[in-house]
Amino acid sequence: MVRFVTAGESHGQGLVIIVEGVPAGLPIDEDYIGVHLARRQKGYGRGGRMLIEQDWAHIISGVRHGATLGSPIGMSIENRDWANWEEAMSVRPIEGEPQSPRSQRVTRLRPGHADLPGAMKYAFDDVRNVLERASARETAARVAAGAVALRLLEEFGVAVHSHVIAIGGIRAEPPAPIDWQAVEESPVRCADPHAAQLMTAEIDAARDAGDTVGGIVEVLAENVPIGLGSHVSWDRKIDGRVSQALMSINAVKAVSIGPGWDVVHKRGSQVQDVIEPVTDPERPWQRSTNNLGGTEGGMTNGMPLAAQFAIKPIATLLNPLPSVDLDTGGQVQAHYERSDICQAPPACIVGEAMVALVLAEAFMEKFGGDSLPETRRNYQSYLQTVGPRQVYQ
Ligand SMILES: Cc1cc2nc3c(=O)[nH]c(=O)nc-3n(C[C@H](O)[C@H](O)[C@H](O)COP(=O)(O)O)c2cc1C
Repeated sequence: MVRFVTAGESHGQGLVIIVEGVPAGLPIDEDYIGVHLARRQKGYGRGGRMLIEQDWAHIISGVRHGATLGSPIGMSIENRDWANWEEAMSVRPIEGEPQSPRSQRVTRLRPGHADLPGAMKYAFDDVRNVLERASARETAARVAAGAVALRLLEEFGVAVHSHVIAIGGIRAEPPAPIDWQAVEESPVRCADPHAAQLMTAEIDAARDAGDTVGGIVEVLAENVPIGLGSHVSWDRKIDGRVSQALMSINAVKAVSIGPGWDVVHKRGSQVQDVIEPVTDPERPWQRSTNNLGGTEGGMTNGMPLAAQFAIKPIATLLNPLPSVDLDTGGQVQAHYERSDICQAPPACIVGEAMVALVLAEAFMEKFGGDSLPETRRNYQSYLQTVGPRQVYQ
């Protein structure tokens, strides 16, 4: 089973990642993971931190001579800003009076963040104890884990892409097919260049007003084999698993498989994806459309898996909202911590990572194998059964 765990505070020494269940013999290196980490750091509307951090995942276990060993893959990502936080985030107790202003307790609660529920739940009198881990810095660790999953899926021809569909009130009309290289080059990861211009202007306007904007992202996984996930139990359904993974990303407020809410406005005949007669044994079970985002009954159906998610406007505002103080309960302005204006473009890369991790987990569940050749044999022998029953058994 592919699973992963992350650890690390936003201004601590760094992030730690363990990915387990990857078969032996998968070629992987730090450069490959670095490409995805760099993609997460791009995007119009990011804050100052992206200039400080150039994330790099050091592989510390589970890989030898450029290939996985089948053992847990351990990685660490250094926080380059650590030097400025050594006292404030010290693991050991601080001797005497703290010297750094950063060591001062944070008590001005920020609405829209984990601050208030986290402080109550864990009985803290310093909100920093909550915000450090609740910060989306953790998503860098997810991207490193996701890169391992992407590398595995690539071996089987699965490609995962993402693009921004909306920022604020501006909605893209992406061309079909999407030019993924153009998306990589777009400052807002938008496939529609005209909408991209309006989106950057919208981000500028929000910044000028001391405000923030949210957006909608689509993640697409192509060449996913038919039959990942299962209809037999609620927690095995692939659409449910993808949704949970995407909803767990910081600030995500809605997830859909395919266009989601939009299907309600259509009739049944306009929504189902009609199955075409099998003419090419190499590509059985094609559909004329992919309205339902590549899943039926909790299983992938051989069409691209398409999931969308809505990300709320960032809660930390340059013009802070009125809030209350944790100590007194009296009114104050919310605490300000260096912040982005729009996180939809980087959230794309986090979304890719989460979808890849779910698909890799479902893939290994279906095909198993302790080594890549064994997984490949299992995969290929399954593909030989996927077709009209009079031809394939
Ligand atoms: C890639 C990414 C970057 C983010 N950057 C910021 C940020 O700079 N400032 C901020 O206030 N929130 C940021 N967020 C959102 C917060 O982490 C999130 O809103 C907060 O943890 C509360 O979680 P919730 O909205 O899911 O309840 C970011 C989210 C993502 C996915």
